[in-house]
Amino acid sequence: MKHLVSLNDVSPADLQALLAVSRKVKAARSAKTAPLFRPLLNASVALLFEKPSLRTRVTFEVAVTELGGHPIYLGPQEVGLGRRESVSDIAQNMSRWIHAIVARTFQHESVAGLARTARVPVINALTDREHPCQAVGDILTILERRGRLKGLTLAFVGDGNNVCNSLLYAAAKTGLSMRVACPPGFEPAADVLAAARAAARISGARLAVTHDPVEAVRNADAVYTDVWVSMGFESEAAPRRQAFEFYRVDGPLMSRARPDAIFLHCLPARRGEEVTDEVMDGKQSAVLDQAENRLHSAKAVLLAVMAPAVFGKLAALGRRKTRRRSG
Ligand code: CP
Ligand code: NVA
Repeated sequence: MKHLVSLNDVSPADLQALLAVSRKVKAARSAKTAPLFRPLLNASVALLFEKPSLRTRVTFEVAVTELGGHPIYLGPQEVGLGRRESVSDIAQNMSRWIHAIVARTFQHESVAGLARTARVPVINALTDREHPCQAVGDILTILERRGRLKGLTLAFVGDGNNVCNSLLYAAAKTGLSMRVACPPGFEPAADVLAAARAAARISGARLAVTHDPVEAVRNADAVYTDVWVSMGFESEAAPRRQAFEFYRVDGPLMSRARPDAIFLHCLPARRGEEVTDEVMDGKQSAVLDQAENRLHSAKAVLLAVMAPAVFGKLAALGRRKTRRRSG
């Protein structure tokens, strides 16, 4: 993997390797062996963010630091991507100083443009179209909680947005079936769905889009939702709140899923809007595991693009362990 711009570009094998390495670095952190491990020593990583962030910013800063590197945060006021300076000029300048760029932008094209021009790896930290790092942490959470992905069903209720698009790729490539329930007009991007369906034909995952939340959630193993008004869509807030009124994940909707189903949300949540307190704080909620896993999966992504030899070794160790366990 040279960059991580879209999960569509990541092979099923590389996605499995990202999961294996995330688990390895997670285990090392809890065993406190991590301080000996500094694969990013002397590497500087720019975090170029046009939008606010808690989880993505903090987890990438901690991940870079714990891997021995130096994070540099550049917030919305600083760079003026495409306004103060062109995306390609910024990418060329940065390539002279730093070793990777983690970028959160309004337009997906800005991250894609950085990746086309930069001579260093570019990681998508959320765009209007995708949130690939989130999806890696999410499938890690499902895998940990349920022990497998193949044969399980994830229901996504709400907006067919960036988070939903990346989850469709992740599910399709790992054999996890996914049912999306959204109001008419808020379906996931048609080209994302087509590419995910092509990947699903190989993995055996079943993908479906419906307008009925109950149909999507019925007997699901995991129920996911996200905000109705994503960053950059604030001008559509009123009509969106109206359109999504029947797409709230509450106790009665959760009760349609399997009794052991987990509840997931990328966060931040608008409590009372897309999800009730009862579900967010309930026994089935795995949202804090999910948030924690952003850290471990951020390390895996950084290693994949910045230290591929270390990444390959850790992935092979993870695979050997899985084989031993299943054999
Ligand atoms: N889930 C997520 O990306 O959170 P932040 O917007 O706080 O980074
Ligand atoms: N869909 C949300 C995700 C935030 C992590 C947004 O883009 O604002």
